[in-house]
Amino acid sequence: MYLGLDLGTSGVKSIAIDDNQGVLAEAHAPLDVTRPHPGWAEQCPADWLTALSDTIVALGQQVDLSAVKGIGLSGHMHGATLIDAKGDVLRPCILWNDTRSYKEAAALDADPQFRDVSGNIVFPGFTAPKLAWVKAHEPDVFKATAKVLLPKDYIGLWLTGESVSEMSDASGTSWLDVGARDWSDDLLQKTHLTRDHMPRLVEGSTPAGGLRKELADRWGIPAGTPVAGGGGDNAATAVGVGVVKPGQAFLSLGTSGVLFAATGAYAPAPETAVHTFCHALPDTWHQMGVILAAADALEWYGRLVGQSPAALTADLGNVTAPGRPLFLPYLGGERTPHNDAKVRGAFIGLEHVTDTAAGTRAILEGVAFAMRDCLEALKQTGTQIDSLIAVGGGSQSTTWLSTMATALNMPIKVPVAGDFGAAFGAARLGMIAVTGDTGVATPPKIAAVLDPDATLVDPFAQAYTRYQSTYKALNSLS
Ligand code: XUL
Repeated sequence: MYLGLDLGTSGVKSIAIDDNQGVLAEAHAPLDVTRPHPGWAEQCPADWLTALSDTIVALGQQVDLSAVKGIGLSGHMHGATLIDAKGDVLRPCILWNDTRSYKEAAALDADPQFRDVSGNIVFPGFTAPKLAWVKAHEPDVFKATAKVLLPKDYIGLWLTGESVSEMSDASGTSWLDVGARDWSDDLLQKTHLTRDHMPRLVEGSTPAGGLRKELADRWGIPAGTPVAGGGGDNAATAVGVGVVKPGQAFLSLGTSGVLFAATGAYAPAPETAVHTFCHALPDTWHQMGVILAAADALEWYGRLVGQSPAALTADLGNVTAPGRPLFLPYLGGERTPHNDAKVRGAFIGLEHVTDTAAGTRAILEGVAFAMRDCLEALKQTGTQIDSLIAVGGGSQSTTWLSTMATALNMPIKVPVAGDFGAAFGAARLGMIAVTGDTGVATPPKIAAVLDPDATLVDPFAQAYTRYQSTYKALNSLS
């Protein structure tokens, strides 16, 4: 049996699979995001450990955990978890969708060596500018920082006692030489840090350490069980849905929205705002366009109108031509393609007849247009994709996926019922770390292919043009 542990933004999900990759048990524990100021997003690492522990206890009520042979980790990327010399957490983790460090990010990004070596724009959500912000605003915290850990690597430290990261998550720090798969001493030095502040690096599919005896005894898992490096949640998802070779791609509608393509080689194109990162398997890379609020935008709207996202999308039925209003999902700024921390969301064209359902459709369409922006950016890099596998909470809505297929003018494949997300991918990485067999990272069986609605492709293309102009107008106002 293998365990996959995924620290998601909205909760921890843990999964147990057998040697044939059949899912034996699943458990979930929710997490909150605190937003003390506009543009900020934080979580307390102690809450991660409580939630994780709850899920493992819940798995133990469904299966006998003494059969566990390997564990894999996955987690939301880019977060700055700051640890002092005793291993204590110094402040709440600054999350991936926190854009407070936009000034520091722009300053680092103005130094060409960052894009040259890391292969990416220094986005405000990435880790290095967060440390520059902490140095400027919380100098005592900066001085006391002995290690900077990514969120899932903090969980790894708790599980194994060792500070270890892996290539896919480390790629999103702005400190990794993504082509060479190693920390860059130059880039670290530019933020007044050294390699000593960083965890040791392994590949995602190799062991990072063994489970500590205290935790092993508590959960009934064999002590020393190998814990794999794992992956950032997107690379782990890719392993889960078998997106590991050029031409394969997925669309994730989680808190963030991601269009992810596996690539055969390191091919950076930072000017497009597409992210070029190491994959979680050795000698592989990937590209992705990332938007900050996908299912998060629907969650936000649901809170506003007092309905759950599932209830909002339940009765929408077929996709219709985009009308009024138009929604732009920039609730906390945007990454691909704008790298704009200051822009904010908008409903344009509200009228007397606008009801909750019209607002919901506008959200689904607006997020689809933002993903179209990512697709256009990905095309500019030369990466070709001709279909997408759908994953993430938002992919439960067929209306949303059909809207995506039409807005992207690309078929979307819906896997059979089951879980092929980050937790499953993490479990696969735990398995590969023990067996060495990377052949397990295969695509799921496909239950349905949602084709673009040919009669609506043009109306969606016209609405997309309006969407692009509206961003420009908003940008001039913010
Ligand atoms: C990727 C990114 C998000 C987070 C949260 O660059 O910031 O997808 O990993 O899922």
